[in-house]
Amino acid sequence: MRQVEDSREQIYETDKERVWHALAPHSEGNPWVVESAQGVYVTDLEGHTYLDAMAGLWCVNVGYGHERIAKAAYEQMRAMPFYPLSAAHVPATKLAATLSRWLGGDYRFFFNNSGSEANETAIKVARQYHAQMGQHGRYKVISRYRAYHGSTMGALSATGQHQRKYLYEPLAAGFLHIQPPDPYRLSGGLSLDEYGKACARELDRVIQWEGSETISAFIMEPIITGGGILVPPDNYLPEVADVCRRHGVLLIVDEVISGFGRTGKRFGFQHSGVMPDIVTMAKGMTSGYAPLSATAVAAHLYEAFKDTSDPNAHLRQVNTFGGHPVSCAVAIENLNIMDELDLIARSAALGDVLQRRLKELETYEIVGDVRGRGLLAGIELVANRETKEPLSPLRVKAIVARTKSLGVIVGRNGDTVAGLNNVVTVSPPLTIAENEIDQIAEALTTAIAEENGR
Ligand SMILES: Cc1ncc(COP(=O)(O)O)c(C=O)c1O
Repeated sequence: MRQVEDSREQIYETDKERVWHALAPHSEGNPWVVESAQGVYVTDLEGHTYLDAMAGLWCVNVGYGHERIAKAAYEQMRAMPFYPLSAAHVPATKLAATLSRWLGGDYRFFFNNSGSEANETAIKVARQYHAQMGQHGRYKVISRYRAYHGSTMGALSATGQHQRKYLYEPLAAGFLHIQPPDPYRLSGGLSLDEYGKACARELDRVIQWEGSETISAFIMEPIITGGGILVPPDNYLPEVADVCRRHGVLLIVDEVISGFGRTGKRFGFQHSGVMPDIVTMAKGMTSGYAPLSATAVAAHLYEAFKDTSDPNAHLRQVNTFGGHPVSCAVAIENLNIMDELDLIARSAALGDVLQRRLKELETYEIVGDVRGRGLLAGIELVANRETKEPLSPLRVKAIVARTKSLGVIVGRNGDTVAGLNNVVTVSPPLTIAENEIDQIAEALTTAIAEENGR
């Protein structure tokens, strides 16, 4: 149903004149305008319908069109549309209790609007925590190259993708990067287990060389997502957690994409047995129906912020709309739906189907590696299988565009690090059905087969 009275041409022209789009180079062509969505499908202004195998931007985990979520938002707006979280409100309280259950640990929640802000908060909490404990020198944050942690200056400083930072530097001081685990390219003949240990040893070495008394936190996603779906060896996170613990460095796990069932568990870290000090989350928490994020801080860390003799002991952080009551009400209903539809188990089961179907693409010469976990997958494309020379971004783009022409939206890791923007990404709503996974695999097979033949 058309939401606006304007003609299609008016919408295109006004958009071209007035809207600055994310990550998109300037184009004189008409923008792609999505007008409505239902289930796993989106429909554009021209009336064409596509299977959205990216769940918007890795976020519409319960799928589109849940009336119950719209109703929850409406009812909360009527009851109490806004009050800041410097006070308290019932939706935030209830949501914190639910998230606590989902995490399976003792955490306290600070609510924000976006994943970037959740990571900003995590970085501030880590620095202040150490200061409250008398360790004022611990300010540096370590993260991995190729990982994305957000667009704001602190979160961008932690990001390890130079194409997202170029011309916006210098960024914040005190951010260091180490190599990401990348079994396809970097394991150098080591077994997965040895490679996981070697990557964790690099963290250990950097902490020692920098001086552990200067390091506040290590931030990582369980799987590097937007940077190219880099799945670490299973022992990597436990080894890293051990290194952090030995050096008194806080472990921040960024679950902005990996959380809320994406990898077949409620949170990505739950595959490992590790309990992080801080967990950041956003996207799937509301399935994108409203903006909301959270920084979950282990309850024992919060103790350090209780010192009543110090006027600056509390966290001096606020975002006007952080923990907006309508967004919290939306999140609660979204999580109810996930539970009722058993979407976590579904993600694990249908994730196996997706991974198996996509793995079949490895028969094509230009497919170097297919990897992922749950309903999160990446297809790394190469010009040469032996040398693993990455396929050019233009050819990767062509495959994504051809897949779209066949009715399926997939993503790619564009604008990350030079030469490695060669991974096609798949991250559909967790409500996807098996025949819809077939549809994704078939469209990708056609697009890749055609490009392989060029
Ligand atoms: C892993 C990760 N962290 C943080 C962010 C930032 O989230 P937001 O775009 O909501 O600020 C993103 C966004 O894609 C992300 O993928």
